[in-house]
Amino acid sequence: MKKWAMAVATGLVFASGMGGVHAGDVEAGKAKYATCQGCHGPSGQGQAIFPGVAGKDVEYLADTLQKYRAGEQVGPNSMMMMPHAINLSDEDIADLAAYMNSL
Ligand code: HEC
Repeated sequence: MKKWAMAVATGLVFASGMGGVHAGDVEAGKAKYATCQGCHGPSGQGQAIFPGVAGKDVEYLADTLQKYRAGEQVGPNSMMMMPHAINLSDEDIADLAAYMNSL
C-alpha cells in the first residue's frame, strides 16, 4: 500500500514537471516581488491603472507573466509590464505566482 502511494506521488511530481509547471516557492517569490511593488503595491492590491495581483489563481498569474515575457499584448497597458517580465526565468515566474497568490 505504501509503495503504491509513493509511486502515485512520484508520478504526479513527474507529470507536473513534464508540463513545465514548477511548484513555486512563496519565500523566494517574496524577495523577487521587491521590484514589482512600486506598481502593484506592497500587498499586491494594485492602484490606478496597475491591476491587483493579490490572491489571483497561480496558473493565471504564471500564464500571464509568460505572455508578457513573450511580448504578447494582454491588456491595454502591456507595454508597461513587458520590460518587467522579459528577464524572468520559469522558476522566477513560478515563485512570483506562488507569492502573489498567497497575498
Ligand atoms: C512600471 C509598473 C509595473 C511594474 C514595475 C510591474 N508591473 Fe505588472 N503590470 C503593470 C501594468 C500596467 C499591468 C497591466 C498590463 C496590461 O494592460 O496588460 C501589469 C500586469 C501584471 C499582471 C497581470 C495582472 C492581471 O490581473 O491580469 C501580473 C501578474 C503582473 N503585472 C505581475 C508583475 C510582477 C510579478 C512584477 C515584478 C516582476 C511586475 N508586475 C512589475 C505594471 C507594472
